[in-house]
Amino acid sequence: MMNKKYAPLFESYRFKNGVELKNRVVMAPMTNFSSNDDGTVTDEEIRYYERRSEGVGMVITACTNVTANGKGFPGEFAGDSDDMIPSLRRLASAIKAKGSKAILQIFHGGREVPPELVNGDVVSASNIPSGEGKTVPRELTSEEVASIIRDFGETTRRAIEAGYDGVEIHGANGYLIQQFFSPHANRREDQWGGSLEKRMAFPLAVVDSVKKAVAEHGDDSFIVGYRFSPEEPETPGITMADTLALVDALSAKKLDYLHVSVMDFWSEPRRGVEDTRSRIEIINERVGDRVPVMGVGSIYTADDAIKALESGVPLIALGRELIIDPDWVQKIEQGKESEIVTKLDKTKQDELVVPDPLWNAVLNAPGWFPGV
Ligand SMILES: Cc1cc2nc3c(=O)[nH]c(=O)nc-3n(C[C@H](O)[C@H](O)[C@H](O)COP(=O)(O)O)c2cc1C
Repeated sequence: MMNKKYAPLFESYRFKNGVELKNRVVMAPMTNFSSNDDGTVTDEEIRYYERRSEGVGMVITACTNVTANGKGFPGEFAGDSDDMIPSLRRLASAIKAKGSKAILQIFHGGREVPPELVNGDVVSASNIPSGEGKTVPRELTSEEVASIIRDFGETTRRAIEAGYDGVEIHGANGYLIQQFFSPHANRREDQWGGSLEKRMAFPLAVVDSVKKAVAEHGDDSFIVGYRFSPEEPETPGITMADTLALVDALSAKKLDYLHVSVMDFWSEPRRGVEDTRSRIEIINERVGDRVPVMGVGSIYTADDAIKALESGVPLIALGRELIIDPDWVQKIEQGKESEIVTKLDKTKQDELVVPDPLWNAVLNAPGWFPGV
């Protein structure tokens, strides 16, 4: 029997659009490097998701690129053409068959795209590399900017046709949408850059394009979330003050949720606010009841999860821990939270159902996962 202390994790959650999740635990979006070269999903990848879709209320997929030149990783599945709809559908069906909602994460890698994946044509808001020794991107023309905004809408239409319950707009982790918001990456002087307001124009136009696709091809039950990283370390770079302004603008867009991307749920602001609380708490307070906030970051134990929920966010996402222990939710539900594994067991790849490319990526990056 479940320990009563953990019951709040298992309360259902109803979005403002009426869609209900069976509990408060979400699988965080995680790239797995395991798709076919033609952009279709593989059997191994499907099995990896099936293994993790039974306990959680909602699964957010690895990111998929909305245009060919947005592909950010080898082995990433594609969402940039109608030919990919059967592949996208296969993944949505596999997740939903296990009882979870399926959310497709849509993105463009911008200046972080490896040149060999895009014939060397790496693009961004401006021609500023993300660091020393990094690729110098080509500045997008205004026609190309408009076209990528439309592409986010097109991939949303494909997600609807493929049977997803929603999409998550990936505005985090330094990729193209964040690059437009960033005073580091974006040095444009047209309508897409300059003031804080103009840096917000691209992210907000992407939201409008996605919402338009939903209005035309779907209905209110289709979930639209937005993920962002609250700060950048560089100067110039995104500050908490910038992010609170973005959060206000996003809150006015009738999104279904906002997802704060941090590696530690309790990480604190670097600059831009006089506040010693965690970034997630500050953002959650700012948003109020306008839109639900999803928190994430280094949640490993049942107690970590309860403590995170007690901060006031209605939803929490788990990434690495669901690779380490795919039975995490079920163990808590069955009162076996003491059996949760919190360090990767390097002998259990088969039992954990992790495809080789992801397994190798994890093993080759010491310090990334507990136990490695
Ligand atoms: C293997 C791996 C792949 C990831 N890929 C993505 C991704 O495609 N999109 C994204 O928004 N975040 C990605 N992330 C970040 C996670 O969603 C999450 O924010 C982060 O791992 C912190 O949560 P955790 O401590 O529960 O793992 C990835 C993380 C890992 C470990």
